[in-house]
Amino acid sequence: MKLTDLRGILQYVPQFREKTFILAIDGGIVTDESFGTLLLDVALLRSLNIRVVLVHGAAAQIQALATDRGVRASDLNGAGVTDALTLDLALTAATRLTHEVLNGLSTNDLRAACTNVVTAHPVGILQGVDQGFTGKVERVDAEFLQSLLAQGVVPVIPPLGFDGQGKTYRVNSDRLAVAVAEQLKAIKLIFVTFQDGLVHHGELIRQMLVDDLAALLQRDPGGFAPSQRSKAVSAVAACMAGVPRVHVINGTLDEGLLGEVFSNHGLGTLIHANEYEHIRPARKQDVRAIHALTRQGVETGELVKRTMAQIERDLADYFIFEVDRNPVACVALHVYPERKQGELAGLFVSPSHENEGIGRKLLQFVESRARELGLAELLALSTQAFTYFQAKGGFVEGTRDDLPPARRERYDQSGRNSKVLVKRLAALP
Ligand SMILES: CC(C)(COP(=O)(O)OP(=O)(O)OC[C@H]1O[C@@H](n2cnc3c(N)ncnc32)[C@H](O)[C@@H]1OP(=O)(O)O)[C@@H](O)C(=O)NCCC(=O)NCCS
Repeated sequence: MKLTDLRGILQYVPQFREKTFILAIDGGIVTDESFGTLLLDVALLRSLNIRVVLVHGAAAQIQALATDRGVRASDLNGAGVTDALTLDLALTAATRLTHEVLNGLSTNDLRAACTNVVTAHPVGILQGVDQGFTGKVERVDAEFLQSLLAQGVVPVIPPLGFDGQGKTYRVNSDRLAVAVAEQLKAIKLIFVTFQDGLVHHGELIRQMLVDDLAALLQRDPGGFAPSQRSKAVSAVAACMAGVPRVHVINGTLDEGLLGEVFSNHGLGTLIHANEYEHIRPARKQDVRAIHALTRQGVETGELVKRTMAQIERDLADYFIFEVDRNPVACVALHVYPERKQGELAGLFVSPSHENEGIGRKLLQFVESRARELGLAELLALSTQAFTYFQAKGGFVEGTRDDLPPARRERYDQSGRNSKVLVKRLAALP
């Protein structure tokens, strides 16, 4: 591993500390030989003080058990009709599977607990058909889960719900995972499957905004295989319920989980909520606001002086962050196409909105825009916020030689002696 890789990983550590990840694992993965590696990755997440909850399905095991017993299950994944026989298969399969998970976690010295946190009611009769023992999640006991997590315990949740009257229902594990993620305010929901991610008409979706996925599901749901459609629908539901990021990964790949979590472009699919809804391109009437905002930074020497005319000339590069329709922060991305470089400049957050994560959102926004434009490197110059770019943005210190020649000339002329910060996005041309 290169030192820069390690730095790249370490930038996520403070961001993830004490935060909750929900791993929604397909039942088949638990009995796959790759499961041991996945648990090692879970142990690593725990060692970084990331709180982990495991929700598992049981479809593959219900199928296997039905075959063993020479019977036919009425439904495998808790989304169709569950008859009494299938409920019995589900109880046996899920209990064994939970045991496997607990056993694996023990092997990795992780404290874990199987829980009864899911209250469920029968789905009832849909279009005239009684869904039997298929349940819908009514409530998740978040308080109990939080107390386990606070003690360093990994809660394990089987796809079963209790009605408090002595009845158990089979629930769909994807929907259950969404409910748990929502209740625990998880920052990630990760579906661990046998597929490389969400595949639509044979094409792997690498990254998609939740609104676009919702539109795709509306327009062409048949492009997804049924099991994938369930993940896609759940991903949309989770993002809409406030989970910022949902991943779908292949659990059989070595480092699939860590690669996805500790990089900006993992191997699987990332569905993200619209975190940038407050950011918009600057318009002509914003010139005055940008000038007024950045003037404060100019006075303290944090930003280079820009006239209204200069801002207006470069207006196409500027973005505004609005709160209640008022511009409270700005940033610019200047592009140097010949070198496939971009410069993040003029970042300023109004002191009245400092420490609310706005600066970080603008950094991420500019970075993802630079990636979309196919840029290989992002640069930033800073006199007083260089540790911010390093700690929060994953930049490393560079030299004036990293700048394109014309920019280097202006840098030398300015006499500001700013630090040059560099973030590599792809191989340079
Ligand atoms: C630097 C700046 C953009 C941060 O914006 P912000 O929205 O307040 O930052 P976030 O909310 O994303 O992050 C806050 C974190 O950054 C840290 N931070 C803030 N300013 C910092 C600085 N100048 N250097 C190092 N760390 C800094 C805070 O201590 C806080 O740390 P924590 O999360 O560990 O508690 C903002 O303070 C600013 O506009 N500064 C003046 C202009 C400037 O220097 N721009 C950069 C040149 S292009």
